[in-house]
Amino acid sequence: MQVDISRDVKLSKIDHLFVLLAEGKIDVELPAAVAKAVRDAKFEGRGDEALTILSSEPRKITLIGLGKHETLTLRCARAGVTAAGRTAKKHRDAKIAMIFPYALPDLDANETALAIADMLAQSDYKYDQFITVKKDKEPKITISGTVIAPDADAKRLAPRARAMAAAVTTVRDLGNGPSNIVTPTRLADRAAEVCKEVGVKCTVYGKRDIERMKMGGLLAVNRGSSEEPRFVVMEYTPRKAKTHVALVGKGITFDSGGISIKPAEKMDEMKFDMCGAAAVIGIVEAAARLELPVQLTAVFGASDNLPSGSSYKPGEIITMMSGKTVEIINTDAEGRMLLADALHYVSQRNPDHLIDYATLTGACVVALGSEAAGLFSNNDELARKLIQSGERTGERLWRMPVWDEYKELIRSEWADIKNTGGRWGGAITAAVFLKEFVTCPSWAHLDIAGTAYADSENAREARGANGAGVRVTLDFLQSLSR
Ligand code: BES
Ligand code: MN
Ligand code: ZN
Repeated sequence: MQVDISRDVKLSKIDHLFVLLAEGKIDVELPAAVAKAVRDAKFEGRGDEALTILSSEPRKITLIGLGKHETLTLRCARAGVTAAGRTAKKHRDAKIAMIFPYALPDLDANETALAIADMLAQSDYKYDQFITVKKDKEPKITISGTVIAPDADAKRLAPRARAMAAAVTTVRDLGNGPSNIVTPTRLADRAAEVCKEVGVKCTVYGKRDIERMKMGGLLAVNRGSSEEPRFVVMEYTPRKAKTHVALVGKGITFDSGGISIKPAEKMDEMKFDMCGAAAVIGIVEAAARLELPVQLTAVFGASDNLPSGSSYKPGEIITMMSGKTVEIINTDAEGRMLLADALHYVSQRNPDHLIDYATLTGACVVALGSEAAGLFSNNDELARKLIQSGERTGERLWRMPVWDEYKELIRSEWADIKNTGGRWGGAITAAVFLKEFVTCPSWAHLDIAGTAYADSENAREARGANGAGVRVTLDFLQSLSR
């Protein structure tokens, strides 16, 4: 959906007005027709309430309940806004407007308007590029939606909302793209394309360059695939930057597990294994469009992980870019192999902060489900700030330890370390492995295996990639310049 934020909207010019109301705080200022509908229908704002009425200006008004006002969160709001977007799509409305008459917890009027606009922009999203048999013959309409925010600095906010929407859509489209389309080459090309659009320097390294840089981890994972690997470096260097933040993403375009092959069930979901890399592309896109005064160096390695006669195998010893040696126990622990090289590469640029994004472990999904991403950090201050940004944006992070005691679990008899730590604490031993390749004293690893995509449609989002990592990071980057 195309979004706008405005202090005021001519109701006669729109097809459908959506009003989101919370239980226990119905008594807010509303257009007369809406207030009458609320009274006549005894609308209470319960979470399961929705009511569409015919009116004159506009023709249609839909009231959507948000649940109790005391417990109103950004996540309840997302369900309400998504319901609105889905309804508008079914009604084939071209122009809609939304009234959200509350401030979200910890956010002021401007931040709330921006958050609602961001949700609205994504509310009707569906990855349908490959659906050739459309349900109806009518051309697809792009809905334009306006968030009515009387107390917000609408003129300044609208372009921000659109920048965010574009970036999140970039991430979703890349994440949802099937692995025969979103190959390492295509992922890298798309990064370059996005960078060109927003004026960011982008360098794409091919197999030869990767060999020259001795990225042993990335090359080992790539050995089983007939698709070449890529290593991508994006550099956003605004003149007024005081802080340098490095970003690293996991770009496995398909993870079959390799020789340690995965079971067939849900293996299709492993096309999402590049969501970390996609997030990093989206963050750069948004930061550049918003002209954030923070220098960014964002990198990712990209490869498939496939079994073949040339695949890397359990028992092999791989020399990484940093010079450390790794004994392969399980070829399905491939993400850490290419992340390690990327973390080493970017550590050499001495960034102030280093953040990586990876759909890294099933163990993290076992621990946290899909309500929070795992956060691992060597720096309490950075962890605190990221958690705070997570709360503000609805992308929750939950901290887990990276204590040295866990290093014992990845000790190898044949090499410096091994690539898996056994059954227990799998998300932690993966993080502890990554830490071996980080020299930055302010590093955070986000395990987004459970949060990067929804395995089925729910009240808040469509099935598939959702742009995890973008919102929390933009809030963090903004907090650096506040
Ligand atoms: N890409 C997977 C992790 C994953 C699992 C992401 C489920 C999303 C949903 C990763 O490469 C992987 O296979 N991890 C293994 C590590 C193990 C072999 C140590 C895992 O989690 O089982
Ligand atoms: Mn794997
Ligand atoms: Zn993987």
